Amino acid sequence: MSLPPMPRGAVTDDIERRVIGADFGADGYTTLAQADDLAAHLDLRPGRRLLDLGSGRGWPGLYLAARTGCAVVLADLPGDGLGIAALRAVREGLDTRCAVIAATGQHLPFAAETFDAVGHADVMC
Ligand SMILES: C[S@@+](CC[C@H](N)C(=O)[O-])C[C@H]1O[C@@H](n2cnc3c(N)ncnc32)[C@H](O)[C@@H]1O
Repeated sequence: MSLPPMPRGAVTDDIERRVIGADFGADGYTTLAQADDLAAHLDLRPGRRLLDLGSGRGWPGLYLAARTGCAVVLADLPGDGLGIAALRAVREGLDTRCAVIAATGQHLPFAAETFDAVGHADVMC
């Protein structure tokens, strides 16, 4: 089965790489260096479970999963962003460690202590 192309543009990808250092379709100001700091502060590694709240198109949650080997759940409301993130997870072979869910921070369908770490980059809940 062939996957559809990522719905991105060369110009926007280039701008994003120059500004934050990555091309995830970010909708905020978290840089690659800051995402790496986050990985260290949250002690992300294989076996750890991260909730990325307000995940948008998967920045930085997908990057953190790829970089550290942790599992990640991406939670947000807009379906288009979640769809793009899910597609990227499949394309990058992260889909066994990544799930997307349409949910708000106010109503999360998870039991207490489901996650080892929670991140929310450029999100004001
Ligand atoms: C500025 S964007 C940042 C997206 C992504 N984290 C990034 O850095 O590219 C803020 C995101 O937070 C989401 N958001 C805002 N309030 C939220 C809430 N209460 N629960 C879940 N997501 C929320 C929005 O839908 C939006 O996708």
